[in-house]
Amino acid sequence: MLRAVERKIEQFILELDDDNTVMLYKKLPVGKRLRAKLILKIAGESLSAIKLSAVVEMIHLASLLHDDVIDDAYVRRNRPSINALYGNKSAIMLGDILYSKGFYELNNIDSKVSKIVSNAVTQLSLGEQADVLLANRFNSSKEHYMKMIYQKTASLIEACAYSGAILANKNPIPYQTYGRNIGIAFQIIDDILDITSSSDTLGKPSMHDFVEGKTTLPYIYLYEKLNNDDKTKLISLHKKELSSDELNWILAGFKEYNIIEKCIKEAQTLVEEALSLMNKEGNISLQKIAKDMIDREF
Ligand code: FPP
Ligand code: MG
Repeated sequence: MLRAVERKIEQFILELDDDNTVMLYKKLPVGKRLRAKLILKIAGESLSAIKLSAVVEMIHLASLLHDDVIDDAYVRRNRPSINALYGNKSAIMLGDILYSKGFYELNNIDSKVSKIVSNAVTQLSLGEQADVLLANRFNSSKEHYMKMIYQKTASLIEACAYSGAILANKNPIPYQTYGRNIGIAFQIIDDILDITSSSDTLGKPSMHDFVEGKTTLPYIYLYEKLNNDDKTKLISLHKKELSSDELNWILAGFKEYNIIEKCIKEAQTLVEEALSLMNKEGNISLQKIAKDMIDREF
């Protein structure tokens, strides 16, 4: 079924009748198509579900194209990003094309679904803005972090589950909660991976997020545990290139207070709640997607 989604995206792009767009689209690495899988699992294999999956994946691709420009990121899925290969202008314009074509096609599916998805894209954009603004100074507020990751990441995943249920005439509420929970869990794990995955060149964590100013959940929990002097020290390390000693000092703090385990547990709890909702719905096929959220490489 995912092949049908790939074909639908290709069809939408060919309809634009623009060689440069086709050329650039082919340079994009194919991702996990998580959002499409979710919609198809909930809504079944109808034409509407395939169209919606294609639209959401195009919107998601557009958001990543823009995000890589905003984050000055030159690698995406282990390959050079479009901004690295062709510059920021090309990345932004390709994002605009995918995004606007996606929106045009969204209007041909279902009016309720189009409201849900377009609202999620507003949330996505507000979330990206909040991510950038929160990175200006050390953010110690878990509430602000949770709201931001809900908007930036979970809102679109929630909208996929919710709209999939609407297309299949199912009660959408448990699916909405399922989507929200796995979306938040996904971002918490993503933020943990920035700390626990070793960078190829350094052979130890790059902790790129903190260097960029992003105070993700582990840093918020570490801050809560530290005494006043160490709180000041942690803030002084925010948004700067870290020496080996500074990096190890932060890692030692994570270890001393079991911070990474605490964050993983929090993501697991969200996923378990999502799983139990789907058990009640009798939809166990959604279990694998939920488990894949947390069983990623630490
Ligand atoms: C990745 O976050 C970014 C997002 C999930 C959302 C980005 C949203 C926008 C740029 C606004 C919407 C724009 C359009 C065109 C729809 P990250 O930087 O934490 O993750 P990463 O490690 O994958 O880059
Ligand atoms: Mg990014």
